[in-house]
Amino acid sequence: MSTNAALFERAQRVIPGGVNSPVRAFRAVGGTPRFIQRAEGAYVYDAEGRRYIDYIGSWGPMILGHGHPAVLEAVHKAADEGLSFGAPTEREIELAEEILKLVPSMDQVRLVSSGTEAAMSAIRLARGVTGRPKLIKFEGCYHGHADALLVKAGSGLATFGNPTSAGVPPEVVQHTLVLEYNNVEQLEQAFALHGAELACVIVEPIAGNMNFVRASVPFMTRLRELCTRHGALLVLDEVMTGFRVGLHGAQGLYAQLIPGFRPDISVFGKVIGGGMPLAAFGGPREVMQHLAPTGPVYQAGTLSGNPVATACGLATLKEIQRPGFFEALAQRTRTLVDGLAQVAREAGVPLVADSEGGMFGFFFLEQLPQNYQQVMASDKERFNRFFHGMLERGVYLAPALYEAGFVSAAHGAADIDATLAAAREALR
Ligand SMILES: Cc1ncc(COP(=O)(O)O)c(C=O)c1O
Repeated sequence: MSTNAALFERAQRVIPGGVNSPVRAFRAVGGTPRFIQRAEGAYVYDAEGRRYIDYIGSWGPMILGHGHPAVLEAVHKAADEGLSFGAPTEREIELAEEILKLVPSMDQVRLVSSGTEAAMSAIRLARGVTGRPKLIKFEGCYHGHADALLVKAGSGLATFGNPTSAGVPPEVVQHTLVLEYNNVEQLEQAFALHGAELACVIVEPIAGNMNFVRASVPFMTRLRELCTRHGALLVLDEVMTGFRVGLHGAQGLYAQLIPGFRPDISVFGKVIGGGMPLAAFGGPREVMQHLAPTGPVYQAGTLSGNPVATACGLATLKEIQRPGFFEALAQRTRTLVDGLAQVAREAGVPLVADSEGGMFGFFFLEQLPQNYQQVMASDKERFNRFFHGMLERGVYLAPALYEAGFVSAAHGAADIDATLAAAREALR
């Protein structure tokens, strides 16, 4: 049997860093990544036959757990009918109708293959609709690896961002302004300076790429007001939160807290594909009509709306609409984060945790952070020790302190208990 270490060594010979997406390489926490052989329900099994309770869930998509029978049946049937046609299918309409039914801010939706593609296309659309070049993003939010979004803050509000990746020329990010998350004052100043040139603001409503940080209600309220007043579009990146924090996404939650709240463009991924490559962006008809072939904003994809991926997504969306699904998932996730906080208290370790629906985060801090800088002040060494302590005890958490965690419908009370028992030992 191949060991994880042997596979990692072999992988590094033929794949840069041995992985096809950097965080999988365990660079943040050190050690050897687990090579996964198979998964079932709440568990993944590595190349050495070890079982782990999985709180990554493919970084969000696996909300039903692995190998849900209804999803597998839909995928098998679709695969038998044909893997890809490059022509329209009825199932694409069904999936679009299902998504629109659950997200009332959108009249139309375009299907693509990854969250990166969806966010990149949403920004092009916003620029095409407004005829303006500039955009705002927030530090700690991730919207995929399109060039214009790989950017960190410049030296002040008047200066635009600097690339965070080699290979991105400064000119490509010259229109991207990076602000602090949850900072209303900065937002107001930025709009006062650049409002007339802003095409859009893109934001994660609950930021899952700096662990788990909620946009405050005053921040989201002001963001919506400023976008409306200055004619910029509000792009809500729900790749992670969509169909994960609730049936109507994070926008459903904010609409309950902020009267009339709705984004202009929404971006989805992860859960809508149920584990297959599928993502989407959508909005009101007046906005979406700007896309090719009806409008001048070009956007396309060979595998967009792939028949197997749409079958997988559709089956997943059907399952999460069963009565009580989100209540049960949210309850189980709450039990986990409350339990973690309790176990840490008993061990005298500062730890705060939060969750919404089936998404959660925890920090080795005294208070829940509000922005990236505060997240990064958390105790990295302690996190890394905890991560490895949990992994050794059969609990697979995200291998970096700036990543959110995910609970699935397949995680039972016994899994949560086992996780808390492992945490009690790991924190000792
Ligand atoms: C909020 C958000 N947007 C966009 C993306 C990019 O999606 P993908 O990895 O499918 O390209 C991610 C990925 O984690 C994400 O969390």
